[in-house]
Amino acid sequence: MSRKFIVAANWKLNKGPGACKEFLREFLPLVNNSTAEIVIFPPAVNFSVCAGALNSTQVVWGGQNCYAENEGAFTGENSAAVMKEMGASYCLIGHSERRQFFAETDEFIAKKVKCVQDVGLIPMLCLGETLGQRESGKTGEVICNQLKEGLCLVDFNKDFVIAYEPVWAIGTGKVATSEQAEQSHQVLRNALNELGGGAIADRVPILYGGSVKPGNAGELGAQDNIDGFLVGGASLKPVSFIGIVQSRND
Ligand code: PGA
Repeated sequence: MSRKFIVAANWKLNKGPGACKEFLREFLPLVNNSTAEIVIFPPAVNFSVCAGALNSTQVVWGGQNCYAENEGAFTGENSAAVMKEMGASYCLIGHSERRQFFAETDEFIAKKVKCVQDVGLIPMLCLGETLGQRESGKTGEVICNQLKEGLCLVDFNKDFVIAYEPVWAIGTGKVATSEQAEQSHQVLRNALNELGGGAIADRVPILYGGSVKPGNAGELGAQDNIDGFLVGGASLKPVSFIGIVQSRND
């Protein structure tokens, strides 16, 4: 079994085209035959900058969100179809900030996953428990439900990626211990096995996200079921992001 190891930058609502160009100018020369796949999720205003600068590099890019339809009267939204047309590879779906601030439900998220796969992009489905859910012993139940519902329209024959991000670890500096993270990843791997069978469970990368930094990435990435990272704050600076990418090779 060899799953892809993916290190992804979620820039959230940070960086305009100038800062994006500047980041890539500094970052790309640091990428040296990385064994990890590197993905940048910039704000949508930077799609064309990424499409241009990443063309014929080993770094790929994607959207942080898309709408659940590919065209129509949906003011202010972006479609997976346009991301595909512009050269994206991935689209993040169901990030906890989307669930929390934009009231996205599992049902809506499932439609987006399908929409992303339909146009030939790879959905990266984000899920994770809140602190309250963890403290009341519901972590396994919550993340398995999010997985099952988020994947209810998925095509198991096409690629998809899971990002486990405990909400209490996002942007807080409180990283899950490698045991806590590995335990949740194992639970998700077993749930994938039940949903799609052993071959799917073996093949689908499960990334960890939540306060990943160069200093904690090595230990987290050494766990059997952690197949990479989704990085917020530490992905904004080329040096710290490359430090996380390289933790794989150290
Ligand atoms: P963080 O964010 O690395 O700043 O905790 C991770 C994420 O939200 O994807």
